[in-house]
Amino acid sequence: MLQTSCPVLSLTAVAENVFLLVLDAPEIAPLVRPGQFLNVRIDETSDPLLRRPFSVYRTEGNRLELLFNVVGRGTHALAEKRKGDRLDVLGPLGVPFTLDDPGFTTAVLVAGGLGVAPMPITTRELLLKGKAVRTFLGARNKGSLVTTHLVQVEIATDDGSEGLRGTVVDLLERAFASGVPARPKIFACGPHPMLKAVAAFAVRFDIPCEVSMEGPMGCGIGICQGCPVELTNPAKKYALMCKDGPTFDARTIRW
Ligand SMILES: Cc1cc2nc3c(=O)[nH]c(=O)nc-3n(C[C@H](O)[C@H](O)[C@H](O)COP(=O)(O)OP(=O)(O)OC[C@H]3O[C@@H](n4cnc5c(N)ncnc54)[C@H](O)[C@@H]3O)c2cc1C
Ligand code: FES
Repeated sequence: MLQTSCPVLSLTAVAENVFLLVLDAPEIAPLVRPGQFLNVRIDETSDPLLRRPFSVYRTEGNRLELLFNVVGRGTHALAEKRKGDRLDVLGPLGVPFTLDDPGFTTAVLVAGGLGVAPMPITTRELLLKGKAVRTFLGARNKGSLVTTHLVQVEIATDDGSEGLRGTVVDLLERAFASGVPARPKIFACGPHPMLKAVAAFAVRFDIPCEVSMEGPMGCGIGICQGCPVELTNPAKKYALMCKDGPTFDARTIRW
């Protein structure tokens, strides 16, 4: 894990309320594994103690790409950054997805909303490992979808403006009803209720499933104890989202 000051190379709106931030990060970019995140100090003055966590969307040489939604003060300030501004970045952080598992041949990527953020870097690595990849995306509407750098994409939207009208879990149900992919493993990222539904789906079909959790964080490095995740294991009731996750075997989580 490194802490570096990274210049902004570009900031572009890529969908409704969705921004792509590209940083020059020669020290951090080559170290990132799919599913890891960065803790970014956005504003030195208004909120000096708090950083904000973001999944790595993609790396390309020295470039580090993040995809974010504007939801509150921090991400609002992030969307105001300009080329040449510098951001203090801590990373790469967290436990990556387990992509080396020989037990699966088809990766089933499931993302809700900005849960799509870790999927492009994950897709690239899976394809390099010779795995088949299918991608299921859920979004509010067509305008908020981001589908670049993904493969075999199927879509569900809340309002039916693209793909199936319904949730990404409805989409999964429909796809699996017409044939379960060969030796599948699910990798999911999105809001808690969606992950809970995907975890239940995986249990029903007896498919291995890893989830990448999202939730409020402080330090991002296991010090503040501010990101507990409840586990099913009676011997270890809690894990830390930042240090033991954000990726977890879905069966280990008390949903
Ligand atoms: C491991 C990890 C990876 C993440 N990756 C991404 C990503 O790639 N792209 C992206 O856009 N977002 C991502 N997030 C969420 C992102 O960190 C939050 O949206 C961000 O911290 C909000 O900061 P803010 O200052 O704009 O909002 P705040 O002003 O801090 O909060 C605004 C509202 O959002 C809620 N909120 C804040 N943080 C979270 C959170 N983490 N989860 C759910 N609700 C929250 C608050 O309770 C409040 O209601 C990730 C979170 C985690 C833990
Ligand atoms: S955010 Fe501080 S311990 Fe996880």
